[in-house]
Amino acid sequence: MNGCSTETLSPTPEGLARAADLLRAGRLVAFPTETVYGLGADAGNDRAVAGIYEAKGRPSFNPLIVHCADLDAVKALVEWSDAAQAVAEAFWPGPLTLVLPLRDGARVSKLVTAGLDTLAVRVPAAPVARDLLRAAGVPVAAPSANRSGQISPTRARHVAASLGGRVGAILDGGACAVGLESTILGLAGRPTLLRPGGITLEALEHVLGERIALRHEADMISAPGQTASHYAPNAQVRLNAVEFEPGEARLGFGAVDCDLNLSEGEDLTEAAANLFEFLHRLDATGAARIAVSPIPHVGLGVAINDRLSRAAAER
Ligand code: TXA
Ligand code: MG
Repeated sequence: MNGCSTETLSPTPEGLARAADLLRAGRLVAFPTETVYGLGADAGNDRAVAGIYEAKGRPSFNPLIVHCADLDAVKALVEWSDAAQAVAEAFWPGPLTLVLPLRDGARVSKLVTAGLDTLAVRVPAAPVARDLLRAAGVPVAAPSANRSGQISPTRARHVAASLGGRVGAILDGGACAVGLESTILGLAGRPTLLRPGGITLEALEHVLGERIALRHEADMISAPGQTASHYAPNAQVRLNAVEFEPGEARLGFGAVDCDLNLSEGEDLTEAAANLFEFLHRLDATGAARIAVSPIPHVGLGVAINDRLSRAAAER
């Protein structure tokens, strides 16, 4: 895959048709969702899915999320349940991924599940993603469209910088509205939060009418992708910076003097949408360290702090 020429496509009818053709032909297509850009391949095509791992440089034990155009396509792949129905009705299409038992005979490559008997599925909300999934007519496996361990992409140019020359095409749909990856809810057993994200724990518990277990930190089998160091810029990252030090790139929140402000008005939705773009920008300045203001640990702040603590983790 390395060294192929990458097409840039617009989300016009022609661009979408071309992207869908490439997917059906087993090629990789990066496309925008409301969370982050995904690196897509036909989930039923072993060679295409192998190409995702190769292009990302991703450890092969880390399973992928399958994206579907609608509920019928999801139900062909997993064993459905009342709990799944309740949260799907409330939050799909949208930034929520469900982990459910894999259906016998589902057309999904073993490389997608990394051998687990469960499958992660989601119906994205971004119109470009839905148009592409409909046009392709196959479920699309897609991790975030960045080299493994790097900051997630929320703009087409982030994808080009990280994966240009390694993918067949990049579909440019502008900025991602949510800006943080989907929340992952495990529903194969007791409801368990496997990754905080665009939908808050409180909102899920409200719909399910029960408490959701938090994934145990040491349980690397239920969410093998959640390694400590992730989303890492080249710069060191210092969290909860109340005062900034000379030479640091300053990522602020609220009424502070800084280089880039996630949200002057302390709006966590705005902060989430800005997070990865601002980390990309501050990293591009070549600063040795990025210092980040404290982010309140409520609502979307939980997911923002999750990503920031991984960006700051020992490598
Ligand atoms: O918002 C998102 O979810 C984005 C967009 C492109 O949809 N995708 C994304 O994919 O973040 P990725 O590959 O970066 O993260 C997928 C996560 C990993 O942590 C992986 O371990 C977990 O989902 N996962 C996938 N299948 C799983 C399964 N069967 N059981 C538990 N965790 C699973
Ligand atoms: Mg990722």
